[in-house]
Amino acid sequence: TTGLSALDQGFVNTASTKSAITYIDGDAGILRYRGYAIEDLARNSTYLETAWLLIYGELPTQSELAEFEDKIRRHTLLHEDLKTFFSALPHTAHPMSVLSSAVSALSTYYEDSLDPHNPEMVEMNTVRLLAKLPVIAAYAHKKSLGQAFLYPDNSLSFVENFLKLNFGNMAEPYEINPVLVNALERLLILHEDHEQNASTSTVRLVGSTEANMFASISAGINALYGPLHGGANEAVLTMLQQIHDSGESVQKFVERVKNKEDGVKLMGFGHRVYKNFDPRAKLVKESADEVLADLGVKDPLLDIAKELEEAALADEYFIQRKLYPNVDFYTGVIYKAMGFPARTFTVLFAIGRLPGWIAHWREAATDPATKIGRPQQLYVGPAARAWPSGR
Ligand code: SDX
Repeated sequence: TTGLSALDQGFVNTASTKSAITYIDGDAGILRYRGYAIEDLARNSTYLETAWLLIYGELPTQSELAEFEDKIRRHTLLHEDLKTFFSALPHTAHPMSVLSSAVSALSTYYEDSLDPHNPEMVEMNTVRLLAKLPVIAAYAHKKSLGQAFLYPDNSLSFVENFLKLNFGNMAEPYEINPVLVNALERLLILHEDHEQNASTSTVRLVGSTEANMFASISAGINALYGPLHGGANEAVLTMLQQIHDSGESVQKFVERVKNKEDGVKLMGFGHRVYKNFDPRAKLVKESADEVLADLGVKDPLLDIAKELEEAALADEYFIQRKLYPNVDFYTGVIYKAMGFPARTFTVLFAIGRLPGWIAHWREAATDPATKIGRPQQLYVGPAARAWPSGR
């Protein structure tokens, strides 16, 4: 922070967090992971290569990446006892509740290696979480379907394995569809980090108390669950489905949003930082057209989404409030075309965001300068008062 203008210095002094991981310029629509543009990463990288970049700060060499992928592949199995954990939950359990509880429970198998100040343990838990979160997610999905859990297949890549765990079954071979693999790889990369969003700030805050990595990530999953944050991708699909099923015109729905009828919002629109456009939304929209065309899927919900975007971008109400599509607006249509039920969408967001959460946890929890998090407060309550006599 040397050589900053007085204004910037003032900002730095009040900024609650300093980080070297992700840079966002909300007005210019810029998003960079460790200096690399999201557009380059989405088009050229893989989920695990970008995860390495976020966590270690540099792109991995070929051998570093190969070793990282292999390590993760070899840690995908869950302890058999943990599988019975799922049987205690109703099949109607929301996958995000299953995910946060299972991640918390996961730490009980590693009580001897949770020390946040032990570098080897931090490495082990980084690999354990990256390897096991997708398996837990797939088990939550299978449980909701009443289908048997599959074991990971180490002959497959990270994304291929995840798709097979979700859509394969014991009775027949599972055919890998490269369209789904490439689209999911890109979507996961687009979600890997996003600076100090609510769930990442939660992970950093919990990690600042020297709570272990699993407890911190479980807290982040719960923060992401909220419909104003990661839960928005599921809420967008519910909104599109309701417009479709009710036969209500897009214009009528937009009017209801503008009149704030029953608190209705245009889900998937707006952002705390992006006030022109969310660069990820543009890339997701590109993928939506490609994936649905490649899969030969014609989904009226995509048409409704495009109509909604067009109507909002031409409407003074949204322009004035700088409301544009965010990363969640089009993702649900793609996930649905892939075969994921809407309730699993935010779980996919969590798998995407995991490398960013881990990178931020490591940046904060392993930095000796980190103090326990304690957001500042402006007290606006009553001044000192005497106790009423005789009470
Ligand atoms: C994510 O922070 C991150 O980086 C998050 C994320 C990440 O990668 O981690 O990008 C992921 O969470 C994306 C956001 C997903 N959420 C949604 O799509 C839910 C719908 N969006 C809104 O709830 C809202 O836009 C927020 C919460 C995302 C941002 O809210 P802001 O910037 O604090 O805006 P605000 O609530 O102060 O609203 C300003 C005005 C208000 O109108 P007025 O009171 O001035 O009349 O805009 C209106 C709001 O009513 N408004 C909306 C709206 N969002 C804001 N009106 C209709 N629809 C919306 N979506």
